[in-house]
Amino acid sequence: MVVTIDGPAGAGKSTVARALAERLGYGYLDTGAMYRAVTLAVLDGVGPPAEAATGDWEPYLDDPRLRSPEVDGAVSDVAHVPEVRRAMRRAQRAILEAGSHVAEGRDIGEVVWPQAELKVWLDADPGVRAERRGTRAALERDARDAVQTRVPGDAVVVDTTGLTVDEVVAAIEALVRERGG
Ligand code: DC
Repeated sequence: MVVTIDGPAGAGKSTVARALAERLGYGYLDTGAMYRAVTLAVLDGVGPPAEAATGDWEPYLDDPRLRSPEVDGAVSDVAHVPEVRRAMRRAQRAILEAGSHVAEGRDIGEVVWPQAELKVWLDADPGVRAERRGTRAALERDARDAVQTRVPGDAVVVDTTGLTVDEVVAAIEALVRERGG
């Protein structure tokens, strides 16, 4: 079974997706990390985005700079390059084909894996989202990423405002069990 977790920055995607994968014993696919790794490759001079995305970007997944402000500031532009999106989506599908996953990302439920058995859209009030990210920059990045950030028509919307991580994970786990996962 594939569970997709989408939603804007600061809604709690990463924390929830990671905890849910652990609870279910599924793999965890962080698609944002892949775009960040390609961005680091570009910043390190490996080549322009289209080239970096088809080259040796995977070692950058373990780079301590993956979530640095430098990457935060550049990743949106890299993630908008069509060749980059094509290469990442292909890599993501290969991973999901291999077995059960909780997969997190802006376009994962609508474009990458529309056949997912459960699609969750995590949301929260803008104030809460800014607080969780500790910065307004994340919300501004959201605006730039809006094209990639659409609620799939068949997604279950979970508003995390005022809920703990455990409460959100338990709610999604119940949905997974309902659907036979
Ligand atoms: O979720 P994150 O902050 O790690 O995402 C990093 C950037 O990559 C962000 O600008 C949105 C973009 N992204 C994307 O375009 N498509 C995805 N599936 C995941 C992330």
